[in-house]
Amino acid sequence: MAYMQTERMKRGNGMICRISPSFKQLKNPLPLYSPRYIYYRLLGLLLESVGRLSKGIDTGFTHGFDSGMTMNYIYINKPQGSLFIGKYLDRIFLDQVTCKAFRSIKQIQSDMINGYLRERSEKATFIVDLASGKADYLYDILRETTSNIEVLLCDISESVLKESRDIAKKLNLGNKVKFKQGNALDTENLRRITRKPNLLIEVGLYGIIHDDESVKRHLSEVKEILNPDAILFNVQTQNPQIELIARSLKNQDGERCVWHLRPIDLVVRWAEEAGFRNAEIRMDPFNIYAVVLMRG
Ligand SMILES: C[S@@+](CC[C@H](N)C(=O)[O-])C[C@H]1O[C@@H](n2cnc3c(N)ncnc32)[C@H](O)[C@@H]1O
Repeated sequence: MAYMQTERMKRGNGMICRISPSFKQLKNPLPLYSPRYIYYRLLGLLLESVGRLSKGIDTGFTHGFDSGMTMNYIYINKPQGSLFIGKYLDRIFLDQVTCKAFRSIKQIQSDMINGYLRERSEKATFIVDLASGKADYLYDILRETTSNIEVLLCDISESVLKESRDIAKKLNLGNKVKFKQGNALDTENLRRITRKPNLLIEVGLYGIIHDDESVKRHLSEVKEILNPDAILFNVQTQNPQIELIARSLKNQDGERCVWHLRPIDLVVRWAEEAGFRNAEIRMDPFNIYAVVLMRG
């Protein structure tokens, strides 16, 4: 009962609105016989069985719903699946508000990167992406731009980098795009990037880092070690599906997919404390993500 009360709050206008459970609540398993446990468990089982006829849901359970593979599938937004039902379920999956928000922030991120490149006019630009996935947003730009750009794509997952390497090869961008497998949170790994980036990108990373201290320390380290001219990151600030994602879906490590929502002001303050400034913030139309560009 206490749990439910924290989820429902009376607004000033008398309307009842739903507040997402806190990160701490999401981390804790629900009591085994609670209706919520049974609901999310059954939903998870359904998604992991019949749901896998949808290619998107299958990709999520195979690679993790927080993986670059799943993100890329959502960006493409073309329903695929086994039999008619699989394709139908895939359309439902791709129409979920979280998937729509992913596609919106991809566009916002591309626009902000393009804006940054325009600012630099014809100057050579070195971009490092520390959790790139396949980095679709960067390929969209590399395909079109005449700017002199070099890109280093890094990710903890070798398999997503392999797929990204194939894209670079197909687009004949092998001379512009390099790859490096590694953990963005590992100090020594950051030190191995010896060239100063003009733009550092880390989108889709902070929400999967559970511990606030790690995000704070990471921001200080990238400032101190890489000292980019600018940084682009995103922050998941709220999500009506956060509990469903946490209790019915799996992450890249096969565990519950718990994401840490944070207020945008908090993360911008950490970035400012690390030495970044002039935050330019854009929200997606669903108010789920904030995309932030700051100067070094
Ligand atoms: C949600 S996806 C975002 C991918 C891409 N940046 C995008 O927005 O489409 C998160 C990515 O971060 C990678 N990742 C997770 N933890 C990481 C870490 N500690 N260091 C580097 N990459 C990490 C995952 O492998 C995955 O590709």
